[in-house]
Amino acid sequence: MIERVPVLLEKSGYEILIGADIFSQISLKSLLGSVSDCVIVTNETIAALHLDNLRNRLAGHGSGVKIIILPDGESYKNTESLWRIYDSLISWACDRKTVLFALGGGVVGDIAGFAAATYMRGIPFVQIPTTLLAQVDSSVGGKTAINHPQGKNMIGAFHQPKLVICDLSTLDTLPPREMSAGLAEVIKYGPIADMSFMKWLENSVEAVLGKDRKALAYAVRRSCEIKAGVVGQDEKESGLRAILNFGHTFGHAIEAGLGYGVWLHGEGVGVGMVMAAELSCRLGLVDRSFVERLTSLITRAMLPTIGPIIDANDNAGRYLELMRVDKKSEAGEIRFVVIDGPGNATLRTAPDALVREVIDACCEPRS
Ligand code: NAD
Ligand code: GLY
Repeated sequence: MIERVPVLLEKSGYEILIGADIFSQISLKSLLGSVSDCVIVTNETIAALHLDNLRNRLAGHGSGVKIIILPDGESYKNTESLWRIYDSLISWACDRKTVLFALGGGVVGDIAGFAAATYMRGIPFVQIPTTLLAQVDSSVGGKTAINHPQGKNMIGAFHQPKLVICDLSTLDTLPPREMSAGLAEVIKYGPIADMSFMKWLENSVEAVLGKDRKALAYAVRRSCEIKAGVVGQDEKESGLRAILNFGHTFGHAIEAGLGYGVWLHGEGVGVGMVMAAELSCRLGLVDRSFVERLTSLITRAMLPTIGPIIDANDNAGRYLELMRVDKKSEAGEIRFVVIDGPGNATLRTAPDALVREVIDACCEPRS
C-alpha cells in the first residue's frame, strides 16, 4: 500500500509517496516523464545497500543512469563534495532535463539538492530518503545546503524536489543509533503542532524504534503531513516555518562546537529540545511537568538529554557565540523557538544571562 501526502505550494507542489517496497508498486518512468539523463547521488554506505534497486528501476530511461558516490559523513557536507557533483555533471554534459536523484539521508539530500538548485541555475531533483530523519523531515520542504566550518547549513538555497519517495524497506538496514536520531525530528512535531501525535508517540516509541511497519508508516506520514502543512503556509521561512527548528539552535551549536559528525544531528536536536523546553519553562511559557514529559520521551527514544561541554573555559559563552551564527538570528540577537503552551511554538529572544542558566542546568557538570 502507498500513502500519498501532498505538499501544496504556490508554484511547485509535489507528492510524498510512503510505503514498503515501494518501487515494485510504482512506475518511476511514468512519474518522471521525459528526461535526458538520470544521475543518482549517494554515498559509499548506501550504495552498497540500496543503489542496485534504484539503478535497475531507472535503467533505459533517458540516455542512461549515471552515478556519483560521495564519502559518508556530515563532515563531507562541504564544498569539496559539491564540486565533485558539478565536475561530474559538466563532464557528462548534463542539461536542464537531467534529473538528479538524492538517494540517502539528510546529508546526501542536502548536498544533492543544493547541487540541483545551482547547476545551470536549477535542474529537477527527486528525494529518495533512506534514513528515518530524512523521511520525516529533510527530504520535504526544499531546504538544501552545505555546512560552513563556523555554522551549519550556512550556504544553501530553497529548491523543491519534483517528488519524494519514502521507501520504508530501506530503514531495515538503518542502525539503531540512526533510528534514534531520526526520532528526534519525529518527536519535535508534537510540542510544536500536535499534542495528540505526541501522545501517540508516547504509546508507540518502542514500536517505531523496533521498526514495526505500521508504526513507522504512521510516524512518517503524520510527520510529513505536519511538515507539509507548515511549509505550505511559509515556504521560504519568513515566519511560521522557523518553528520546525525547535531544538535546533542549541543542537546546531553542539554539532559545530564538537566538530561535525561527533554527535549526530538528531542527537544535538534531542538535547536541544530539552534546552529549548527548559528555556520555555524559565520564560514562564510552560510548566515544569511539560519539560519532564518531553525529556522522558526523548530518553525513551534513546537520545541524550544532557548537553556536552564544548568549551572547558566558558561553556555557555561558546554555545552563545555559536548560536549567534544561527540563521534565525537578527542583528546579532538569537531568536529561539520556544513552546508557548503544549502544541504551540513561537520565536523569542531571551537575555544572555537566562540562556547561560539554561545551558549550565542542561549540560554535564564540569570536572
Ligand atoms: P546522514 O545523511 O549522515 O545519514 C546517517 C547515516 O546513515 C550515514 O552514515 C548514512 O550513510 C547511513 N545510512 C543512510 N541510509 C541508510 C540505510 N538505509 N541503511 C544503513 N545506513 C544508512 O544523516 P541524517 O540523520 O539522515 O541527516 C542529517 C542531515 O540532515 C544533517 O546534515 C542535517 O543538517 C540535515 N537536515 C536537513 C533538513 C532539511 O530540511 N533540509 C532537516 C533536518 C536535517
Ligand atoms: N527542518 C526545518 C525545515 O525544513 O524548515
